[in-house]
Amino acid sequence: MLGALIPGGIARPYDDTVARDLAIDLGTANTRVVTKGHGLVLDQPTVIALNTRTHEVLAVGDDVLAMIGRTPGYLVAVRPLREGAITDFDITERTIRLLLRMAGTSKMQRPRVLLTVPAAVTSVERRAVREAARRAGASAAHLIEQPMAAAMGAGLAIHEPVGNMVVDVGGGTTETAVISLGGVVAYRASRCGGLDMDAAIQEHVRQRYGVTISQSTGEEVKLAIGSAVPFAEQLRVEVRGRDIGTGDPARVVLTSDEISDALAEQVDLVIDTVIGCLADAPPELAQDIIYEGIHLLGGGALLHGLAERLADATEVPVHLVEDPMGCVARGAGLCLESFDTLRPIFAAADV
Ligand SMILES: Nc1ncnc2c1ncn2[C@@H]1O[C@H](COP(=O)(O)OP(=O)(O)OP(=O)(O)O)[C@@H](O)[C@H]1O
Ligand SMILES: [Mg+2]
Repeated sequence: MLGALIPGGIARPYDDTVARDLAIDLGTANTRVVTKGHGLVLDQPTVIALNTRTHEVLAVGDDVLAMIGRTPGYLVAVRPLREGAITDFDITERTIRLLLRMAGTSKMQRPRVLLTVPAAVTSVERRAVREAARRAGASAAHLIEQPMAAAMGAGLAIHEPVGNMVVDVGGGTTETAVISLGGVVAYRASRCGGLDMDAAIQEHVRQRYGVTISQSTGEEVKLAIGSAVPFAEQLRVEVRGRDIGTGDPARVVLTSDEISDALAEQVDLVIDTVIGCLADAPPELAQDIIYEGIHLLGGGALLHGLAERLADATEVPVHLVEDPMGCVARGAGLCLESFDTLRPIFAAADV
């Protein structure tokens, strides 16, 4: 039986059947919730339906996508996170409240919640996120830095005096970290993620063909023919958009070569961020990484050829982790199993 912390730090018996511990990875592109004993219980796009009159959050995830175009004007679909950071705490609280309900907890249960945060968020933001989770119904809210959760999700021995490197190419950010002895030793993040890659494709089509396409079309193109190294043979896809001049529907055929050119800037940014982080690591730990390799995760890690480009540029072996998109949530979920013994790790993020 776990002990729940009450004010003053005294443990009291904690009834697992009443309150379920939850880990929430609120990502720029996707939100994942893991509960103790049940694993992944929610995996949805981070999109909310917001009532702009009342500030109410009416739905999260796929339900919102189904509502687009079918709602009155004051209901809008919003991606509430930018670059992985929480920007509006009122909306965050309402979103978390809804997520808790969607994950099957009732108002009475008041679960303990572990939230993942980018390692770069300020202490003011950290306090605000914890407060938002408490107001949303959590009995206690702790934070874990995403690179730490990623390392745990990847099964790395984070408590050993050995350098490990994780590279998370998410929707809004690329976070890179060297971890040793249970702490982040070197860290670099930059604004280049899957959503920026989609935007680069949208911009390319607009500039070259004078056609606007949606973010989701840009993403489809990326998934179909996007790459960090050219494909052996040229691939093509046809997309639909709107002519900028006339507003008429338009079709464009795109090739894999032009899309890899359009993505080059984002791919270079990912590589530069990793090289910068490696350079920041103490030499002994950098040596470990040359031997152990880089652990690559996040949805962007699945971009065709990215692991190969990264290995070439850094001359370090690159391992794509199992289920790269679920890695951070999985790691946070592992923490739930030993909520109390891992408190020092949370404390580092909780300040
Ligand atoms: N096969 C693929 N090739 C390229 N990109 C992909 C692929 N599969 C998923 N992605 C991209 O991965 C991104 C989502 O990744 P992920 O779920 O790790 O982001 P996130 O955790 O929400 O974001 P962040 O950590 O930056 O806040 C999306 O932009 C998606 O298009
Ligand atoms: Mg993420």
